[in-house]
Amino acid sequence: MLKRVWWKDDAGNRFGAGLMEFHVITLFPEMFESTFRGGIIGRALEQAKITIRTHPLRPFGLGNYKQVDDTPYGGGSGMVMRVEPLAAAIETVASANPGIRKILLTPQGEVMNQSMAREFANRGAPLMLIAGRYEGIDERVRSLVDQELSIGDYVLSGGEIAAMVIIETVGRLIPGVLGNPDSLNEESFGSGSLEYPQYTRPEEFRGMRVPEVLLSGNHARIQKWREAQARERTAHRRPDLAERKS
Ligand code: ADE
Repeated sequence: MLKRVWWKDDAGNRFGAGLMEFHVITLFPEMFESTFRGGIIGRALEQAKITIRTHPLRPFGLGNYKQVDDTPYGGGSGMVMRVEPLAAAIETVASANPGIRKILLTPQGEVMNQSMAREFANRGAPLMLIAGRYEGIDERVRSLVDQELSIGDYVLSGGEIAAMVIIETVGRLIPGVLGNPDSLNEESFGSGSLEYPQYTRPEEFRGMRVPEVLLSGNHARIQKWREAQARERTAHRRPDLAERKS
């Protein structure tokens, strides 16, 4: 059995010696365990290239019932997450991890992109990812964090999946996590544009042939073709990205 470094309880021990640490404050820590059991991130955890620690919010809840939410002032539907349990969790994790960057996941945040992921990975400072459940969070929580991040213009039921997206996106940029680091330069967004089309065998499938140039063995021509394809694709499918580049 390979050693799993991250889904132990929150007893205050440090697990692993990952180059990059993620600390997630959540009501649903078990969601992370199943998601990162396999794949690239699972392997990175086993090799202690990254560390993920979940910090359950419930023990910071109030009263005998460990309450973490309440009805909204002014009325309205749904419940709102209270500020005190979140403040206590954020401050507990922050004091044990000097230099940690506190990030609240919310659809109202700045939209995450590849260059932010690169900045987080390059800086290497630990990240605190605070997942709210969505109906809402008390507005005062915003004053306790460094940054608010969204993963896109749609609403999830909670920040957990958004936190996972950030862990996956940043985690794979940490040195040694990907088998072949060259693929980082070539993939979509790596250079600010979409990736060129890729093919493998067979040469022909249902009448669709692999472009002749890729079979030519002429590396200069192949390189030029790929660059042109990437440019055209970006202009056609994502004019917003093409614009940003020029
Ligand atoms: N929580 C709910 N929706 C979200 C989103 N789009 N991004 C980040 N956190 C969220």
